[in-house]
Amino acid sequence: MKILLVLEFPLKLAEELQLISVLRRAGHKVRVAAAEKVLSLVTPAGWEALCGFRPVAFPEDGLPWAEVLVWNRLSRERARAARLRGCGRPMIDLGKPSRAAWSPDKVLARLEQLSQPQDFAGKTVLVTAGPTVEDIDPVRFITNRSSGKMGVAIAWAAAMRGARVLLVHGPMAAEVPQWPAVEALPVRSAQEMHDVVREHWQEAQVAVLCAAVADFRPDHYVPRKIKKIPGEGMVLSLERTPDILAELGAMPRHPFLVGFAAETDDVEINALNKLRKKHCDLLCANDIRQPGCGFAADTNQITVYAADGTVHRIPMMAKREAADEILKLVAKFTRFS
Ligand code: PMT
Repeated sequence: MKILLVLEFPLKLAEELQLISVLRRAGHKVRVAAAEKVLSLVTPAGWEALCGFRPVAFPEDGLPWAEVLVWNRLSRERARAARLRGCGRPMIDLGKPSRAAWSPDKVLARLEQLSQPQDFAGKTVLVTAGPTVEDIDPVRFITNRSSGKMGVAIAWAAAMRGARVLLVHGPMAAEVPQWPAVEALPVRSAQEMHDVVREHWQEAQVAVLCAAVADFRPDHYVPRKIKKIPGEGMVLSLERTPDILAELGAMPRHPFLVGFAAETDDVEINALNKLRKKHCDLLCANDIRQPGCGFAADTNQITVYAADGTVHRIPMMAKREAADEILKLVAKFTRFS
């Protein structure tokens, strides 16, 4: 995007100079319009090296060129504020000198949001992500290889399209997106994930259940470390966990329901079985035998089976992009867009 960075005060100039390089590294074009006292702190050649353009003293020059304004403002600059606001460009306000509310990552995220359709505005999307952990005793547990990357990508993509997101996640390697619209609800076991989803599903118009929920848990928890007995093995007795997706699908009025299936064999047959049995609207199947697919990878290749019998193939791509393709399908089927 073409960004005009309007700098009215020099108090945090080092941070803003860093912002310029972060924005340029992310592929944005940046021009600077700055107050004289800001311009004088860096040589003209220095500014040119930083932005690729000589800065200008007033923003009007850059306005016709800019797609977005990023602005650090002085509260008393009312006339300029009115002119900038009236220019019809989206604006990211870095706040007054007294506030330290922004970071380059937040500005990048806001720019990403500006480039996305806001077809999920006003909607709540519930996402489950990551593995669950089923404790055996205070030192041992059963879990799986889910990193949470796919679920986090769905949460992020939904937030970028304007949704409020409830992200119910197990202990995962992926970081929870730091974005005001994403509310993280951390859990540990399948039972806890079930209980939190049951508490919140009625708030959601869409539920995307991407978590790799343990299907089995020890039938009882041993509160002290289980001791080994020399020469003896051990039999662990397991029971089923609640099936969150199947329970939601069985509700008479449930959110638009997107399930996932990580399969190694008979991918299509298994995916279609899950779609029907769990009453999903869409079922996203990933064939985890394929390199770059499924658990812990940064990429995924997904076939989406819809309840109306249509099949939608998402070729191998970054999980972030694949998440966006899934949300486009959700928007189409729910007629959000
Ligand atoms: O987290 P990553 O490392 O990025 O990996 C992503 C992923 C491989 C975990 C993800 O893309 C995926 O496929 N998630 C589903 C994993 C799976 O094997 O699901 P399943 O076949 O056990 O279950 C089918 C569906 O029912 C899933 O939507 C699951 O969330 C849900 N389910 C399953 C069991 C259970 N007790 N409750 C559930 O809600």
